[in-house]
Amino acid sequence: MRKIVIAGNWKMYKTNQEAVQVLTELKRLTKDVKGVDIVIGAPFTALSDAIKVVEGSNIKIAAENVYPKSEGAFTGEISPTMLKSIGVSHVIIGHSERREIFKETDEFINEKVKAVLAEGLTPIFCIGEKLEERENGKTVEVNERQVRKGLKDLTREDARKVIVAYEPVWAIGTGKTATPEMAQETHKEIRNVLADMFGIDVANDMTIQYGGSMKPENAKDLLGQADIDGGLVGGASLKAESFFEIIKAGI
Ligand code: PGA
Repeated sequence: MRKIVIAGNWKMYKTNQEAVQVLTELKRLTKDVKGVDIVIGAPFTALSDAIKVVEGSNIKIAAENVYPKSEGAFTGEISPTMLKSIGVSHVIIGHSERREIFKETDEFINEKVKAVLAEGLTPIFCIGEKLEERENGKTVEVNERQVRKGLKDLTREDARKVIVAYEPVWAIGTGKTATPEMAQETHKEIRNVLADMFGIDVANDMTIQYGGSMKPENAKDLLGQADIDGGLVGGASLKAESFFEIIKAGI
């Protein structure tokens, strides 16, 4: 059966000290939480200390990006091997901000997914359509393309380990959320694509998170949908209290 995973995506927020503060508070709040996997995606500079703070808790730490080689002359980049060596367990890959601002392609994202899996880390693989794509009736087509290209050539065994995060781009940081029914419909379509690629058993085991203005007020309804298995939370993950409210909605 698939897991419920509530992950925070801190983006380019929080100094090391701020990260330690929020995680210390989150660790206290979540000490009795069971049945939900909790992940925080933190900036590279905060990863080492973040991992130390959450030791002995049920919080896992994700990087927000990675370069798909284990080492080499790639100035400024960070490898899956380096992330693993400090205790990172998850990596956010293909976030719409990386696709948009940093022009990451489906092919490059596919390389990252494979490199992260090869190191034994869990990819949080992001997909999602833009507003004009939804308005032009291209939602299914866009998400299907991103899934097929981003997870191309994965074995069934590896596919099972991937967390998919469906984040409609028009809902990210805008306060606009997909209605639970709208999100459920797209999640179901994504799962159908995964079933076509990897078989129904694997597809049924894969966690598909919703992301895009998930907050304490809407989390319960979204997470109550049959094919929504967690959340990737930006703004509302920056404070321990609001993130904890979302975690509780996932229990
Ligand atoms: P948001 O961001 O919750 O602030 O909309 C979600 C994300 O970008 O992962």
